[in-house]
Amino acid sequence: MATAARIATHGVTGKQLEDFAADVRAGLSKPGQKELPSKYLYDEVGSALFEAICLLPEYGLSRAGARLLKRHAEDVIDRLPAPVAVAELGSGSGTKTRWILEALSRRQPVNYYPIDISRTALSRCWQELGRIDSVSIVGFERAYLDGLLDVASRRNSGERFLVLFLGSTIGNFDRPAGEAFLREVRNVLHPGDALLLATDLEKSVSQLLLAYDDPAGVTAAFNQNLLARINRELDADFDLRFFRHEVRYDEENRRVEMHLRSARRQTAHIAAAGLHVNFAEGETIWTESSHKYRCDEAARMGERAGFRCAAQWVDTEWPFAQSLFSAE
Ligand code: AVJ
Repeated sequence: MATAARIATHGVTGKQLEDFAADVRAGLSKPGQKELPSKYLYDEVGSALFEAICLLPEYGLSRAGARLLKRHAEDVIDRLPAPVAVAELGSGSGTKTRWILEALSRRQPVNYYPIDISRTALSRCWQELGRIDSVSIVGFERAYLDGLLDVASRRNSGERFLVLFLGSTIGNFDRPAGEAFLREVRNVLHPGDALLLATDLEKSVSQLLLAYDDPAGVTAAFNQNLLARINRELDADFDLRFFRHEVRYDEENRRVEMHLRSARRQTAHIAAAGLHVNFAEGETIWTESSHKYRCDEAARMGERAGFRCAAQWVDTEWPFAQSLFSAE
């Protein structure tokens, strides 16, 4: 037993700031609705704020996901062939993954590959999971699909992969893009590999609005930090006092949207993107979507993407599902 955790990082760094500047320029110079990609919410401050969000009584998602894995990790493992290596899309803080890795490591030594564009998230993950016996960790500081391709190229012969996509991050994609993403994951996998996918489920609108607009203002800070990050990293001058956190539920698309609403007419200068942006009073920047699913909808989506839905577990306290898919 007791194989010390091996820790290494395979990162790309130089291009990241350039990509950030290009995405900010594209999103803020769009005619009509201005947008910023939600993946940029997670710098060091944003990741810490997100962890605080997960502690809020109003935000039940992460506790629901943790409850499910705590209860069903053995059951998930029992349905997988051996030996299996684990790749995780978005390493998060690692708490949920612990249940899976511990259950699996009782059966076999485990190679665990967290993939995250956030270095902060990866190092949290190492802190949290680095000491589990018989688990060796190699982190990939990459976009999900790039990272997954890297991981796949390290497959040992006879080894299967279990891909974890927990926390319901799939909800950040709109539905067709989510399905296309799953298909791309499937294309990297071999028959017999598996995917454990978490989706937040539909629930009352008032519950959802509270979850994304908590009275303590933590989610507001999380949202506004995106502009603060642009100020820090791209030498911009957004005045955060005049961009207010706003949350909406779009009934037609069944999603929560986060926006930043400009409280007055104003201009921001983003030096590193070579951009001046004008805002009308009341205009918003759309910063995130969180799509809500129905159980069978999640299963069908995976099936259209080339998987078979082998099992589903649902939390009833906070409607939330984990679906185990097998690559056909
Ligand atoms: C981490 C993407 C699942 O969409 O619920 C939390 C992020 N945004 N509060 C979500 C988030 C606002 C979260 N995900």
